[in-house]
Amino acid sequence: MAEINTNVRLKGEEQSPEDLKWGNDLNAALKAARKGREVLMHYFGRLEQVEEKYQAGIVSEADKESERIIFAELKNSFPGCELLGEESSVDGMAYSQPSEKGRWIVDPLDGTTNYVHRFPIFCISMGYEINGQIQLAVIDVPLLGEVYTAIRGRGAFVNGKPLKVSSTFNLKDSLLATGFFGQDEKQLDEQMPIFSKLVRQTRGVRRPGAAAYDLAMVARGVFDAFWERGIKPWDAAAGILLVEEAGGIVTTYRGQKYHPYKNSILACNRNLHREILKVISPLTAADTE
Ligand code: IPD
Ligand code: CA
Repeated sequence: MAEINTNVRLKGEEQSPEDLKWGNDLNAALKAARKGREVLMHYFGRLEQVEEKYQAGIVSEADKESERIIFAELKNSFPGCELLGEESSVDGMAYSQPSEKGRWIVDPLDGTTNYVHRFPIFCISMGYEINGQIQLAVIDVPLLGEVYTAIRGRGAFVNGKPLKVSSTFNLKDSLLATGFFGQDEKQLDEQMPIFSKLVRQTRGVRRPGAAAYDLAMVARGVFDAFWERGIKPWDAAAGILLVEEAGGIVTTYRGQKYHPYKNSILACNRNLHREILKVISPLTAADTE
């Protein structure tokens, strides 16, 4: 895979000491993701331990080892930084509030079900959050050889090439994506009517099975929008910055600005946001935020 240029600059300006710092942080994050990628490539097709998590799908030795190795690398490069990862989230869920000092939010394997079944869409997702805002993002998609990166104010990229959301104007010309958890009856009862309406009004709705990847596809302009209820901080943290930096908009189902501790997400190009929200909002439960 080609080296990624981490020589970042604030849009339209000369490189500053702050740009340099973010460039170094991106380098360190890419190194951690690379180590996670090696773990995922090693276990792909060779898993021996797949377990059910309580109301949270499945987990394998690859998820756990990838998180362990990414955290070790992040602790080394960012001493004292808070870490929130899917596989250590029993402790991590204590973090339901934004971080003042800075926190890495990591999904060491997004798309575990795909991975276990050898469907090639899965990724590592890492977002650095301060006060609810993601500042730096890395999404590494091992089998596609794609690494998505973003630093706030400095653009979003795939393997170093700039990303831009789509400019699709009409819902009838759009391709959307969604995700949902199949073991939550309440959530399914809410999501299926939305799916049913939008699939009729668009060219199609995809459900690739890895939210971070779906968000990267919105940032790339492949999908015009992505929505999901019950999304977790580690699924969305990196992807939201990619979408915003690629010119898109990310809100809750209520149209409020999204941050990684909200439970619903609509990531979209700016032209279609209002129209899709008009479909989603009335069909969602009162406790949606
Ligand atoms: C899941 C995937 C899926 C989404 C779920 C996530 P995991 O993550 O991103 O697409 O619909 O909400 O939990 O469990 O594969 O890391
Ligand atoms: Ca995961």
